[in-house]
Amino acid sequence: MSVFDNQQHYGKVSRFFHWGMAIVLSAQFLTALTRFFFEDSWLDKLLWGLHKPMGFLLLLFVVLRGLWALMNRSRRPASVSRAAVLGHRALYGLMFVIPVLALIRQYGSGRAFSPFGIPLMDGFEGEKIEWMVGLGNLIHGELAWLLLAFTLGHIVMALWHRIRKSHEDVLTRMW
Ligand code: HEM
Ligand code: HEM
Repeated sequence: MSVFDNQQHYGKVSRFFHWGMAIVLSAQFLTALTRFFFEDSWLDKLLWGLHKPMGFLLLLFVVLRGLWALMNRSRRPASVSRAAVLGHRALYGLMFVIPVLALIRQYGSGRAFSPFGIPLMDGFEGEKIEWMVGLGNLIHGELAWLLLAFTLGHIVMALWHRIRKSHEDVLTRMW
């Protein structure tokens, strides 16, 4: 298997990003689902502390993955349909916008933020920046649930293409 993508298969780096992010994103949704259904439970107390740093990590990942995808654009396997192209673009868009909105809110709250000990935001004294906090409150969670729904649809479609013998089995390109 080569480092770069080719017409038949995604290469090592694309697979690393795809499956690595699938694992971290699943863990991210686990922290959010635990908060949503069992707020203040022992599990929520254990997991919620991971949500912000892991969300930041996912943002770094998606930026690198997007750049890698652009570099490999002419090499990678052709999408099976226009719907697949649009679906993958929507996944990229949401994976980028969701953590960015959260970071804007974090900045606007005036509270310091140091994911994995990296001093990303120093925080500030005084009033919060209302529009920054309001924007995140309004749509960070909503868009994230939308991403979960799109991801589940994406998984179903990958399995559907595998089951239907007349379709191209796209799973072998990524697995
Ligand atoms: C791809 C990355 C991320 C995903 C998929 C994600 C997903 C979610 C989800 C599903 C919720 C629950 C919403 C609800 O209860 O209705 C949530 C809430 C929250 N997230 Fe994230 N998140 C991400 C990144 C981040 C980052 C980077 C931060 C902070 C720096 C953050 C901070 C929060 C906070 C404070 C809440 C609770 C308030 C709210 O519901 O908006 N998230 N997130
Ligand atoms: C069990 C989980 C998953 C399965 C079975 C799966 C399956 C696949 C397959 C078979 C492809 C290749 C499609 C093609 O070439 O037309 C693909 C590509 C892709 N998948 Fe997934 N996927 C999973 C999880 C995820 C998750 C969690 C995300 C992000 C939310 C994601 C985002 C993407 C994107 C953006 C592509 C386009 C190629 C790229 O730029 O990396 N997938 N996936």
